[in-house]
Amino acid sequence: EQLKIFAPATIANISCGFDVLGLCLDGVGDEMTIRKVTSKGVRITKIIGQDLPLEVEKNVAGVAALALLTNLDRELDFGFEIEIKKNIKPGSGIGSSAASAAGAVFAINRLLGNPYDQTELVKFAMQGEQLASGNAHADNVAPAIFGGFTLVRCYDPLDIISIHTPKELVATVIHPQIEVKTADSRAVLKPTVTLKDAITQWGNVGGLISGLYTEDYDLISRSLKDVIVEPLRAILIPGFDKVKQAAIEAGALGSGISGSGPSIFALSKGKENANKVAKAMQSIYENVGIDYDIHVAGIN
Ligand code: HSE
Repeated sequence: EQLKIFAPATIANISCGFDVLGLCLDGVGDEMTIRKVTSKGVRITKIIGQDLPLEVEKNVAGVAALALLTNLDRELDFGFEIEIKKNIKPGSGIGSSAASAAGAVFAINRLLGNPYDQTELVKFAMQGEQLASGNAHADNVAPAIFGGFTLVRCYDPLDIISIHTPKELVATVIHPQIEVKTADSRAVLKPTVTLKDAITQWGNVGGLISGLYTEDYDLISRSLKDVIVEPLRAILIPGFDKVKQAAIEAGALGSGISGSGPSIFALSKGKENANKVAKAMQSIYENVGIDYDIHVAGIN
């Protein structure tokens, strides 16, 4: 018995929601095959497209799968083999590790007859994030498993909320071809924030959530701001200010760092606008000769 699945890329933070907000990109992601086999345990048999460890304990999909299996109240007399075709580059900022971890636990849960709910799967997949970045954040794995926009309302106990996703909202993501490790881009953050910045930030989080539910694009646009994390991380990303400005000038509702970067995202109303925004963003990198990947994708 085997399952072939699509493991989606995700955008974490979405400007104001560091470690709590995320969204799932439609049609951008990895392909995985998970096979039920007679030998016990988990094996990563093949990874196509990227040079990543096959050792289960060193692989995010392996670690997430083990977290699920060791939580079961019975010992299985069979095991699982995992094959991954990586289309998402590690260190790109669109949830490469999250896709593999979420995909593995999603598929194994299916093959076991769905003993776990989506929030429990997020918890297992977070073990993969812990391995990849030294921190078990859930803002990429939650949208990868739930789809659409998600909010991590609370980490302990874990409480994931699925947020209404306006159909016309389209994401543009550009990836300058450098790798930024999440651990490194977390290291530049400060452990404290000022009350003034916190007030600005939680006002925007509330505004963004409200804007998504009411499909108020102007409110979404006003709320896509980050006064806490973006100012500290922007220096890690070539041309960040220019690309962001180009996106806004081309009509994006907002733009910011995708997850821990270096990818930069923009949200637009409608595909046509998102394509215009993509052109404007890529022209900045073309002018200075920086190679890039770009995606225009719905949120699903
Ligand atoms: N919230 C995490 C961070 C996402 O920004 O570090 C990492 O993809």
